[in-house]
Amino acid sequence: MLALRSDNGAVQSETSGAVEPALDMLLTPEGRALVASMTPYDPASAMARLEAARAEPLWVDHPEVVAAAATQARLRTRAAARFPGPPRWWTPAGLEQATRPVVAARHADRFVEAGVTQVADLGCGVGSDAVAMAAAGLQVLAVDRDPAALWALSATAVDLGLLVTTRHGDVRTLAGPWNEPQRSDAHEGFGCFVDPARRTDAGRTRAPETWSPAWSWVRSLAERVPATGAKVAPGIDHAAVPTEAQVEWISVGGDLVEAGVWWGPLRRGSAHRQATVLARDDTFGAIPGSSLVTVLDDTRGIPEPRIGPVRGWLVEPDPAVIRAGLVSVLADRITGHLVDPRIAYIVADTRPDPGPLGTTFRVVDQVPFARKALRAELRARGYADVVVKKRGINVVPEQLRASLHLRGAGPTATLVLTRTDAGPLALLVERADPPSEAGRTELPVDRRAEESGGEPGPLA
Ligand SMILES: C[S@@+](CC[C@H](N)C(=O)[O-])C[C@H]1O[C@@H](n2cnc3c(N)ncnc32)[C@H](O)[C@@H]1O
Repeated sequence: MLALRSDNGAVQSETSGAVEPALDMLLTPEGRALVASMTPYDPASAMARLEAARAEPLWVDHPEVVAAAATQARLRTRAAARFPGPPRWWTPAGLEQATRPVVAARHADRFVEAGVTQVADLGCGVGSDAVAMAAAGLQVLAVDRDPAALWALSATAVDLGLLVTTRHGDVRTLAGPWNEPQRSDAHEGFGCFVDPARRTDAGRTRAPETWSPAWSWVRSLAERVPATGAKVAPGIDHAAVPTEAQVEWISVGGDLVEAGVWWGPLRRGSAHRQATVLARDDTFGAIPGSSLVTVLDDTRGIPEPRIGPVRGWLVEPDPAVIRAGLVSVLADRITGHLVDPRIAYIVADTRPDPGPLGTTFRVVDQVPFARKALRAELRARGYADVVVKKRGINVVPEQLRASLHLRGAGPTATLVLTRTDAGPLALLVERADPPSEAGRTELPVDRRAEESGGEPGPLA
């Protein structure tokens, strides 16, 4: 079993990597005050503030500490919206890769529900997941090969009053229970979490074998440790996920943020695929487990999509539903059908109620699918602007919007361009539920999960 030291409620460092002394000086009362004095970080005044700090007697011989403090202030300012609550310590790469707290808490819940008591977070980064696990009452061993990330995690855990044991090294070769062959009596109450780094020197990588650790290593880990979970890119190929695992695609406030792959006791129910829609972090925090979490899954199978013509109502499924491949499940649930087997719009005769799993629009009219005629039509209806949504049509929404040259003081039209079984179609729609009702806000079209490419139409 994992030996975790827990003598005084502080962070334990089993093996520390080399961390610059400047970082440790930030943790002194004077260093903390320096960081606080630069936060929130304002680029316009940052240089003057930096120079003033460098001239202070305390820091005149330590410009590297002033620079490190400015980096922390900048990262804290950037992190503030995504990581509410007490300030944390960061590295630039660590902040970029850190799991949102609302999602990290869901990861931790899986382990707690499965009866796991000790978790090894293998490739913990700055430890958003590790901190959530410790806060959920789990004993956490956090391992990373980046000493600066471990420094940040340790400092954050101390500030939050949480116990996390850190270990520096390569998770693939370090001695630990996760690298031991599975024995029948081993690993009871023990689980592993891996969030592979998806950045290489060449930038973000989508190929699972280029992640670090590689996806094949994570899969072999799950064979040794039954209670294994992994966070992966939401775009992961469905074929890369073993059928015995459960995959949960999660969106937060309409943004698709990740897929979680869960093995053995960490699975919830019998579903293979789940789509989980979370309301925004800030509203969720106070009400864990409330109706602000909505889940759709394939427990009852995935029906063949029913195809038919456009009707009076249109639903745009949440990106988690789309990526999970559960559009036909949602269509069945709301008594709707698709207009094309590969297009993620659902239409219905009567007003559907997808709840947070989709956004409902009333179809006002079909409009011409040709730029000139479309412009004339929208102008005749008094629209001064247009929001373009599209699926399966090779059009750049912003370019089309600009080329329509709508102006004036009128309302903004919402235009849906879609491929259908019977050819491309342009629909004028109106959002049926105000954003406040659904707990979501409208997102710019290019941030939505849309299938790439599509038919060039007369608009192109
Ligand atoms: C995506 S980040 C983890 C983020 C973390 N879950 C969080 O929420 O803050 C991945 C981390 O894995 C670490 N890593 C990658 N390969 C590793 C290896 N072979 N051994 C140890 N750490 C590794 C990287 O240094 C990086 O900090």
